[in-house]
Amino acid sequence: MSFKIAGIAMASLMACGGAIAQNQSVEVVHWWTSGGEAAALNVLKQNLEKQGIAWKDSPIAGGGGEQAMTAVRARVSAGIPPTAVQMLGYDITDWAKQNVLADLNAVAAHDNWDKVVPLALQKFSKYNGKWVAAPVNVHSTNWVWANKDVLAKAGVTKEPANWDQFIDDLDKVQKAGFVALAHGGQPWQEVTVFDGVALSTGGVDFYRKAFIELDPKALGSPTMEKVFQRMSQLRKFVDKDFSGRDWNVAAGMVISGKAGYEIMGDWAKGEFLNAKKVPGKDFVCFRVPGSQGSVTFNSDQFAMFQVKGDKIAAQNKLAAAIMDKGFQSAFNVVKGSVPARTDVPDAAFDDCGKKGMRDLAEANKNNTLVGSLAHGHAVPASIKNAFYDVITRHFNGQLDDKKAVQAMMSAAKG
Ligand code: GAL
Repeated sequence: MSFKIAGIAMASLMACGGAIAQNQSVEVVHWWTSGGEAAALNVLKQNLEKQGIAWKDSPIAGGGGEQAMTAVRARVSAGIPPTAVQMLGYDITDWAKQNVLADLNAVAAHDNWDKVVPLALQKFSKYNGKWVAAPVNVHSTNWVWANKDVLAKAGVTKEPANWDQFIDDLDKVQKAGFVALAHGGQPWQEVTVFDGVALSTGGVDFYRKAFIELDPKALGSPTMEKVFQRMSQLRKFVDKDFSGRDWNVAAGMVISGKAGYEIMGDWAKGEFLNAKKVPGKDFVCFRVPGSQGSVTFNSDQFAMFQVKGDKIAAQNKLAAAIMDKGFQSAFNVVKGSVPARTDVPDAAFDDCGKKGMRDLAEANKNNTLVGSLAHGHAVPASIKNAFYDVITRHFNGQLDDKKAVQAMMSAAKG
């Protein structure tokens, strides 16, 4: 190399180095705006800031992320994609197909992601052999959260062993003057409840056939009608002000002792912890009765968009930070989820977290791990939204149980 070329190379390296020290930043779009969610995200933000990377926070409120996805579409069509976007399942694949996501293969190979990330997640993190997203957690939706004190006052002394016992317990709590089931009337929340009810009612094979394989026989089956009958049963335990309520407000009703139960993914635990409540002492967690042994999962991943110049180095650091083993423990302890790597010890997790990790490993081994319909891991958004519509209309009394079954069959056709 001539002196001249070496000089230019050195000068540009220094310019680049200077720029890195001062200007490295990431813009992250997400919908983690509740107290528990924000606390978890802070772990990541601080981690990056320690590395000298500025964090531009772009929150778009709305549980389940529908509003965030609308905002991202606008950003990408305007040609100004953010560095990273919190994203679920098939939404990642949809963006990857449009060839707008970054190639993370170098960082993934360096940190051995292929070995440590479960295949069920890799299905969404990779597209055509290329890593396009970094998974930060694994949540699951078939959970119930309950206030211990409320249960004691209502005379409920043990965990329900099956669906009918659960209904009896809800009834006791209601009769004791509490809101039995804290619920937020938003389509994604109704479908979150539906995930657990379907899994419990029909078992994992039914769930897989109906919502992943879209098998018309399963979709139109008597089992499906039973699922809707059970949704109708639950509807009676919801208070009159449920419409439009945010999920974390519903969790707050359980936390404060106004309500007995919430059926919600394990991000609800983040709210209990944020309110300084202790599992086993103040609240209990259990799988939707009848669904123990199977798991409806969703994994929050950060889909990385194609960016230019300095932004690429910062993006790679963000990806590496998300997959860091220590970070995955620290983050998920606060978030309520479990790590997206198989090699993170459970030592730092509370009892609900330990149970979540055990259940996930067992379901993975037994092939009883299925993607959440509510959270974009069963079918792409076009079909998911059609299911949302049916389930929410049914919950709001616009369709009876039988008509809902028919509507599910049409919805599956897209
Ligand atoms: C889910 C997401 C969770 C949690 C929840 C409520 O879709 O996976 O991390 O944020 O929405 O906002």
